[in-house]
Amino acid sequence: MKKILVSRAVFPDVIERLARYFDVESNQADEMYTRAELGAKLADKDGAFVAGNVIDASVLEQAPRLRVVSNMAVGYNNFDMDAFTRAGVLATNTPNVLNETTADLGWALMMAAARRMSESERLLRSGAWDRWSYDMLMGVDIHGATLGVIGMGRIGQAVARRAKGFGMRVVYYNRSRVAPEIERELNAEYVDKATLLRTADHIVLVLPYTPESHHTIGAAELAQMKPTATLTNIARGGIVDDAALVEALRERRIGAAGLDVFEGEPKLHPGFLDLPNVVLTPHIGSATLATRRAMANLAADNLIAGLNEGPQAGHPPTPINPEVMARWSAA
Ligand code: GLV
Ligand code: GLV
Repeated sequence: MKKILVSRAVFPDVIERLARYFDVESNQADEMYTRAELGAKLADKDGAFVAGNVIDASVLEQAPRLRVVSNMAVGYNNFDMDAFTRAGVLATNTPNVLNETTADLGWALMMAAARRMSESERLLRSGAWDRWSYDMLMGVDIHGATLGVIGMGRIGQAVARRAKGFGMRVVYYNRSRVAPEIERELNAEYVDKATLLRTADHIVLVLPYTPESHHTIGAAELAQMKPTATLTNIARGGIVDDAALVEALRERRIGAAGLDVFEGEPKLHPGFLDLPNVVLTPHIGSATLATRRAMANLAADNLIAGLNEGPQAGHPPTPINPEVMARWSAA
């Protein structure tokens, strides 16, 4: 039997599925391994089921048998993909199954930021609410406003699709334009980044984290936004310069923000905690039972098939660097 590591806690029945095919070492205590610990754990493993663990050449060098690493996440900026491909190790992720759930959270944050929901609830829970008044906690409208989507991949499209029911105008910016039929279906207009920043009432960030997308929103971009605009990040920490965002929110240079991801998370810039005009969630974009189960099972499918077992043997459904598999069969 091939040996695998499950590096983080996950649904017990998914571990049972894996145990039908593999000798499984599982970390149900959810201890966060350092890179060195992970490398040592992988020294005798053929495969790994991970979630967000950083894996680079220093880890892969310690794992001569390793063939497949399955990430239970769509984003894989935790993997050094050049190192994976050089080492001939297949990496897989869990795209698609979380698109709608993540788009829902984007909307929840955008709406909560626009309508000051966290701030409202804090006031109420504090006991300080003693009367209705005409100008209390006034926010900005979602309906009829302009939605700006930065990153028009599958999750970005799911975010944009929801704008129809709210009668919004949709503008988007992406490395490249999406197909004309998708633009038509979403009623989305491609604009350059500066136009988007200037015209959108609500901006949602849905792009992968790469060296190119680092600080896509920094002080210069925040300065171009409307003073009433909201900014929502459901993508990755590091796409926004959090220190610059704290300043912009504090000085009311933009209206509000909704953030599910942070630079250096699970730590976050302490400035956010003192600000009324930011809604904060702890990286829960895909966190519904149905979607987390779908992600875990897709990650298991990838590992089982990637290690040449099970009904889809040799055909992992969502590989990131499938080209390495050709090298295995040639060897
Ligand atoms: C979560 O952040 C994911 O990438 O799936
Ligand atoms: C507000 O509660 C209203 O009745 O307009």
